[in-house]
Amino acid sequence: MRTRRALLALVLAVGVAGCAALRERFPGPDILFVATPEAVSLEMLKVAAVTSQDVVFDLGSGDGRVVIAAARDFGARGVGVEIDPKLVNVSRDAALAAGVGSRVTFLWQDLFVTDLTGATVVTLYLRDDVNLRLRPKLLRELAPGTRVVSHDFDMGDWEPDRVQSVRSREREHRLYFWVIPARAAGMWQSRVGEAEAASLTLTQEFQKLGGTLGAQPITGRLRGERVEITAGALTKRGMEHVDRIEVEASAAGGAPHRWTAHRAHH
Ligand SMILES: C[S@@+](CC[C@H](N)C(=O)[O-])C[C@H]1O[C@@H](n2cnc3c(N)ncnc32)[C@H](O)[C@@H]1O
Repeated sequence: MRTRRALLALVLAVGVAGCAALRERFPGPDILFVATPEAVSLEMLKVAAVTSQDVVFDLGSGDGRVVIAAARDFGARGVGVEIDPKLVNVSRDAALAAGVGSRVTFLWQDLFVTDLTGATVVTLYLRDDVNLRLRPKLLRELAPGTRVVSHDFDMGDWEPDRVQSVRSREREHRLYFWVIPARAAGMWQSRVGEAEAASLTLTQEFQKLGGTLGAQPITGRLRGERVEITAGALTKRGMEHVDRIEVEASAAGGAPHRWTAHRAHH
């Protein structure tokens, strides 16, 4: 009797461990398939200003409609990532039927392991908690300037750069739009022309900047690598290139002559 119970316990333990390992290799969906209406998919791609230069990743791509529309209607290339193999097959067939088979790829994969580095646009229709889990990966892997559009769900305290409503036949849909910000936080030394000027300290929370220029508090914003810094009455607009900020234009208070800032510490 004791031996039988021990054997049963062993069988159960092996079973549970096996399921856990299987689940790790083939995780279930984080959210079930609900299709974005075609008109809303088109609007998502328009919000992201998709062009033929783009590579659009739809994470949790369902029947492939967003990726196929990106290729068919905007000339982009696309990658769909979907955990349900049946939907991957449906997507591949639909892409061939739409004549975009060579421009799109569908991966049978857990979106949390997908290498996102090739994307210039990411589209999502997941859920707010899934978006939040995905957020660090987006910020880590996507290049500054990559556009992200999410159907109906936001990203918590990462404020969208834009929110738009769109109506389908059934209801109102919300589209949230972000641009992956460059990394600007740290100490910088500003220069006017060739001469060293005030030191610049930047703090960063997603796309929002704070800190000081000399003794003056500043506010600012990043849109990809485009940077805008306001110190008092002066707003400087320019580009951040990893270790250099170059201001192209200043509004109010007159344009300082060739204002740049160089990273003081990494
Ligand atoms: C709400 S549907 C959206 C489908 C499509 N993006 C659209 O907008 O029509 C979410 C899709 O994500 C897939 N999914 C859920 N969890 C996933 C995961 N971890 N990896 C890949 N796909 C996943 C589901 O199977 C489902 O097809």
